[in-house]
Amino acid sequence: MNPIYKKVIKCYDSLRAVTDFQPRLALVLGTGLGNFADCIRVVQTVEYSSIEDFPISTVEGHTGRYVFGYVDAVPVVVMQGRVHYYEGYDISDVVLPIRLMKLMGAEILMVTNASGGICERFQAGDLMLISDHISSFVPSPLRGANIDELGTRFPDMTDAYDPGLRTIIRAVAVKENIPLQEGIYIQLPGPQFETPAEIRMARALGADAVGMSTACEVIAARHMGMRVCGISCVSNMAAGMTSGPLLHEDVQQNVDEAAPRFERLVWKSIVSIARSI
Ligand code: HPA
Repeated sequence: MNPIYKKVIKCYDSLRAVTDFQPRLALVLGTGLGNFADCIRVVQTVEYSSIEDFPISTVEGHTGRYVFGYVDAVPVVVMQGRVHYYEGYDISDVVLPIRLMKLMGAEILMVTNASGGICERFQAGDLMLISDHISSFVPSPLRGANIDELGTRFPDMTDAYDPGLRTIIRAVAVKENIPLQEGIYIQLPGPQFETPAEIRMARALGADAVGMSTACEVIAARHMGMRVCGISCVSNMAAGMTSGPLLHEDVQQNVDEAAPRFERLVWKSIVSIARSI
């Protein structure tokens, strides 16, 4: 058996030994949305560290667990803490948690993150619906022998961010009076923030926001046929766009300020998406 698939199955069996929960929707909580899990009617939590062979995230402020429960009547699995490529994991380990959530039953994936704004029209604190991504600067999580049990060798990435789900989220934002930008997210490897020259490059390539996660997760999800949507919190304007250095603490503070709006948009969007399926 493909060693990567073998590891996924081992983790899946280890998870299934402690829960038979069947989520419909999977949610990845990015920086700043960490408290979202408190709003959920929690049925069970499973620490990543208790899952055999699961890659453990080490970043400050990222606690690592799956939370199983309900948003309204929707059974969800929430990743409270994700695995980042810059932590040193193989890219296949970075996407393993996503693959597990699909195996558990989730057909829809909602990804959230914090990002640096590249688009001149954006401001720190803005929320951005992800319309597409650029993942070309990180390795593909599908590199190596294809895992036929999960998906096809050459998966289509047109409409990676599901147009129907995006329409729903836009409508929720309007109804809830939450300003929502829309744009292209570029994943760069990190962990260092970008140089101003790299930000000019990313802008020239068409990117509107930059971060260190997400695109690889979305590729793995699309490989497995999940419908995907993503919302980014623009926690700061990217390097060179404002005076002064970029500090992780500022990123954290800005996302904390945006968190109530971000949480409301995510919550209402999940409810609205659930009603559509
Ligand atoms: N660059 C990369 N990742 C980020 C940023 C940024 O400016 N802000 C939050 N995550």
